[in-house]
Amino acid sequence: MVIAPSLLAADFGRFAHEAARADRSGAEWLHLDIMDGQFVPNISFGPEVVRAVRPHFKRFLDVHLMCGKPEILLEPFVKAGADGLTVHVELGAQVTPLLWKIRSLGKKVGLALNPPTNVNEVRPFLEQVDLILVMTVNPGFGGQPFIEECVPKVQQVAAWRKELGLDFRIEVDGGINLQTACECARAGADTFVSGTALFRQHSLTQAVAKMRRLTTAAAGELV
Ligand code: DX5
Ligand code: ZN
Repeated sequence: MVIAPSLLAADFGRFAHEAARADRSGAEWLHLDIMDGQFVPNISFGPEVVRAVRPHFKRFLDVHLMCGKPEILLEPFVKAGADGLTVHVELGAQVTPLLWKIRSLGKKVGLALNPPTNVNEVRPFLEQVDLILVMTVNPGFGGQPFIEECVPKVQQVAAWRKELGLDFRIEVDGGINLQTACECARAGADTFVSGTALFRQHSLTQAVAKMRRLTTAAAGELV
């Protein structure tokens, strides 16, 4: 299991400190939500913040682009230190060139889908990705409640992965706490983004370890 605390729920006045706290927690990934005020109704941060946290988190920086024109941002984020870049399937005709571009930059390739989007939209791209991100809230803000209706999508993506013999990761993002993480693990998710439920804990280390332990156990009960 991969646990990915989301920097969106960290103290924005202390990004370096918060990234170091995530590093010490043992979390495998740090998730960075990039919002452009167009694809989603909010603005978060850009490549310079990724550059600022890069020296403080030694493992995988997971950059989630909630942006209408990600093509202009891929290289800046790679130069800033991103290890993986995820774009949204809702971008339609832009998706294929974006996935190719991320691959050509030598980074892990992710594809996300929003709650209202039919899961069949990602089916044509499964052979080309390292990660499918099933959004479990409508993107734009942290701290929203988990949308239960997204769980069958995780199951469907996991079924396709097995059927096709592929090994991409299945990530869930939005409203993930210990309970919803376990529900997603039982459906086939193996990568858990969590902002509020992790960063707001006094001990991030204990919270990360507990989420990893419980989701690993829940995956043993795969439905
Ligand atoms: C939502 C973002 C999430 C967000 C999750 O737009 O993509 O990564 O940080 O935050 P929580 O865990 O608080 O729902
Ligand atoms: Zn995200």
